[in-house]
Amino acid sequence: MDAGPWMDDVTLLTPGPTPIHPWAAAALAWPMRGHMDDDVFAYNDAIVADLKRLYGAADDAFTCLLAGSGSLGMESGMANLLEPGERALVASNGVFGERMAEMARRVGADVEVVRAPAGTPLDPDEVRRAALARPPKVLAFVHGETSTGVLNPLTELTAVAAEVGALASVDAVTTVGMGPFAMAEHGIDYAYTGSQKCLSAPPGLAPVAYSKRALEAVAARSTSVVSWYADVLGMQGYWLTGDGGRLYHHTVPIHLHWATGEAIRAALFEGLEARAARAAGMAEAVLAALAPLGFAAAVPAAHRLPTVLAVTLPPGVDDVALRGRLRVEDGISLAGGLGPTTGIVWRLGLMGEAARVRPYRRLIEVLARRFDGPEALERFDEACQRLGLVDGAVPSRSHALVRTSGLTPA
Ligand SMILES: Cc1ncc(COP(=O)(O)O)c(C=O)c1O
Repeated sequence: MDAGPWMDDVTLLTPGPTPIHPWAAAALAWPMRGHMDDDVFAYNDAIVADLKRLYGAADDAFTCLLAGSGSLGMESGMANLLEPGERALVASNGVFGERMAEMARRVGADVEVVRAPAGTPLDPDEVRRAALARPPKVLAFVHGETSTGVLNPLTELTAVAAEVGALASVDAVTTVGMGPFAMAEHGIDYAYTGSQKCLSAPPGLAPVAYSKRALEAVAARSTSVVSWYADVLGMQGYWLTGDGGRLYHHTVPIHLHWATGEAIRAALFEGLEARAARAAGMAEAVLAALAPLGFAAAVPAAHRLPTVLAVTLPPGVDDVALRGRLRVEDGISLAGGLGPTTGIVWRLGLMGEAARVRPYRRLIEVLARRFDGPEALERFDEACQRLGLVDGAVPSRSHALVRTSGLTPA
C-alpha cells in the first residue's frame, strides 16, 4: 500500500507544532503500560519535578500534564481559579488574549478586558488603572502573543497583580521551555503551555503549573469547578500520592506523557539559557538573510517575541499563493498571519527543534532562488558562523540522564 503523502519529510517552520525531538519520537514507540502502572507513576513523578524546573516554580507548586492542547491549559486555569460572578481582568493584544477573555466569560466570571492594539505590547499602566479601579480575583494575560509576535512585559504585569492582590495567570505557551521562566520569582500563580510548542513534543498535552496560593484559592471555593475533567483536585489525586494512594481520574495518554517527559528532559539537558540564545541567534541570522529579499521584522526589537518571528512580506507578494507553492513544490510549511496580521506577515517558528540551522537554511535557499537574491544565503551562512550557530549531534539520552540531576534512565 502507498505510504501516503503524510510520510514525506516536510520542513516544518510554523509557530507550533514544531518538529519532534528525537528523544520524544523514540518514546512514542515504547511499549504500552496501564495508566495506573507503577512505571507510569514513577515517570510522572519525574515529569512533576522537571516541570517545576522548567517553570522556575517553588517546591510547593503543583505541576502536571493535562490531556488536551494548550487551550485546555488556558480553560482549566479559568475554570479552577474563577467562580461564577467573580471578577477577572484580562489584558489582551491579540487572538489568544481574546480567547482567554471568552473562556473566563464562559465559566461565568465578570470579565473586564483591557486591550492594546494588535502588534503593540500591553500597557502595564493601563492595566494597573483598571485593576486599581475594580480589583480582580484573577489578572490574566498572554506572555508571548503568537498571533502577532509580540512579547508582553511580564515583570510589570505580574507586579500589578501583586499590588492588587490578584492571582496572576500567565499564558506561557510560546515562551516556557525556550528560555528561563521564573514563576516563583515573579509571583505567578498559574501558567501553562502546549506540548507541541517550545518543547517539540507532539500536540495533545498541556503542561501546567499552579502556585500554592492558587491551590489554596481553589480549596477555598464555595462552588465546584465547572469542568469535572479540568478540576485540579482530580489531577492531584492522580499525580500525587495521597492517603488513598493514587486515584484513577481518566485514562491518560501514556505515550504523550512519555514523549513530553523526554522533550522536557532534553530541554533541561540543553539548558534554558542555551535555548534562549539559540532562538535569539536564529532570529538574527534569519532577519539578516531575509532583508535583501524585502522581508522585514514586523515587531520592534524591544518587544519582539524571541520564539515567533513575525516578518512583513515584500510588496506585491501574494501570501497564500507563495506559501502554497513552498509547501507543494519545496516541502516547506510556513504560517501566515492570524487575525489582524492575516496576509501581511509570516510567523516563523523559532521554538524547540524548529530553531535550527538546517531547516532555516533550506528556507533561505529556496527563497533566495525564488526571489533571485543569492546574497540571502551568503548572509545567512555568515551570520550563523559569526553567532556560532551549529546543529550539533543529538546527545545520547543515557549519557544525558546521568548528567541531569535526579533522573535515572527509564
Ligand atoms: C499563546 C497561545 N495560547 C494558546 C494557544 C492554544 O494552544 P493550542 O492550539 O495547543 O490549543 C496557542 C496556540 O497557538 C498560543 O499560541
